[in-house]
Amino acid sequence: MMMIQTFAEPMLPAALQDQLRPLLDDAFPGFFNGRIYVKQQPHFRIIMDDEGEVVGQVALDYRVIRVGAEVVQICFVIDLCVRKDRRRQGIGSKLLAEAETQARQAGVSFIVLMADLHDFYSRHGFLRIQSELTRWLAIEDRASHSLIEEDLADQLMAKPMTEIGWPKGPIDLLGYLP
Ligand SMILES: CC(C)(COP(=O)(O)OP(=O)(O)OC[C@H]1O[C@@H](n2cnc3c(N)ncnc32)[C@H](O)[C@@H]1OP(=O)(O)O)[C@@H](O)C(=O)NCCC(=O)NCCS
Repeated sequence: MMMIQTFAEPMLPAALQDQLRPLLDDAFPGFFNGRIYVKQQPHFRIIMDDEGEVVGQVALDYRVIRVGAEVVQICFVIDLCVRKDRRRQGIGSKLLAEAETQARQAGVSFIVLMADLHDFYSRHGFLRIQSELTRWLAIEDRASHSLIEEDLADQLMAKPMTEIGWPKGPIDLLGYLP
């Protein structure tokens, strides 16, 4: 039977971490280097388990960011992936839906993610963010190295959790880019 579980990142059992490593490495080759995070540890991890086997996961990073004159509370949805042999069975959608439920309960204004698969996320209510410069702290090889400013409109997507739309203006992530 499949089961969704959520862990605060520091509480993630070692046995689950061991299962996440190959899953993440397989889904995002060359990014994780044997770790379960790329740049920085997320706050929460949602895991789909089937009879003791991890078949999918997604991580959450809660923060405030600046958009123009506004400071907004967001939840970054990070590293959504499903084991190759279990894709196209709705697991990714279930993980995304659970991430949304939790972010909504936490009271954020938007869920935000970086996406290549725009159609998949559009179907789940995510909208492209209009072209604006985004500023973030670059981390390479687990060292801070600079502030980067780039237009991420081709990748950034957001889903509003309230009636209020994405504010206008440049984006400052007030930290690293997940
Ligand atoms: C993206 C991913 C999490 C989807 O998980 P999933 O369990 O297969 O998702 P679901 O079964 O809920 O939905 C599948 C839908 O997503 C879309 N989709 C999934 N992978 C796709 C791909 N590589 N290219 C285009 N569309 C894709 C399809 O439209 C598919 O719908 P269909 O089966 O009706 O055609 C999974 O493919 C994955 O782990 N990919 C590798 C990691 C990754 O790219 N993560 C996203 C980072 S932006």
